[in-house]
Amino acid sequence: MSRHNTIEMITQSAGATFEAGRTVGENLQSGDVVALAGELGSGKTCFTGGLARGLGVGEGYMITSPTFTLVNEYPGRCRLYHLDVYRLSDEGQLHDLGYDEFLMDGGVVVIEWADKIASAVPVNAITIDFEYLDENRRKMTIRGPNEKIQQIKSAMITEVD
Ligand SMILES: Nc1ncnc2c1ncn2[C@@H]1O[C@H](COP(=O)(O)OP(=O)(O)O)[C@@H](O)[C@H]1O
Ligand SMILES: [Mg+2]
Repeated sequence: MSRHNTIEMITQSAGATFEAGRTVGENLQSGDVVALAGELGSGKTCFTGGLARGLGVGEGYMITSPTFTLVNEYPGRCRLYHLDVYRLSDEGQLHDLGYDEFLMDGGVVVIEWADKIASAVPVNAITIDFEYLDENRRKMTIRGPNEKIQQIKSAMITEVD
């Protein structure tokens, strides 16, 4: 049996990407890492907004891209660390930012542009590759530990029904 499993989906609106994020967020727990990759405008921040809600981050918090701050933190069922490492100059800066503490803290860590820090992403992370198909369509390929992906897959099927 393979240890890794995959979900492929195409969303036809920003709202659908947000809802996919919410479903993933509902199925996350303390210590999970979600590594997002894909070009600018492919939906990573939109998805993270939904994920945050699924993790219990209150509606009062606007989920914005941490493009300049590099990391935003939100309280939820467990703490959410939302990183955007696009502007990171090297991995040393990642550690200065407190990355190792975030990973140890028992929160959930979401990383935009995670492919830029591939060697620093835990092997058991959920990885999501975003592809811009056209103005309104995005393809998402979600990979990760079998059990986790199976759980997310079941949740997505239930919500579609
Ligand atoms: N199917 C879709 N999924 C996600 N975003 C979409 C979709 N269709 C249109 N959009 C738009 O694309 C933009 C996605 O931007 P964003 O989430 O910031 O991307 P990234 O963080 O990858 O740069 C948003 O303005 C959103 O409204
Ligand atoms: Mg973004």
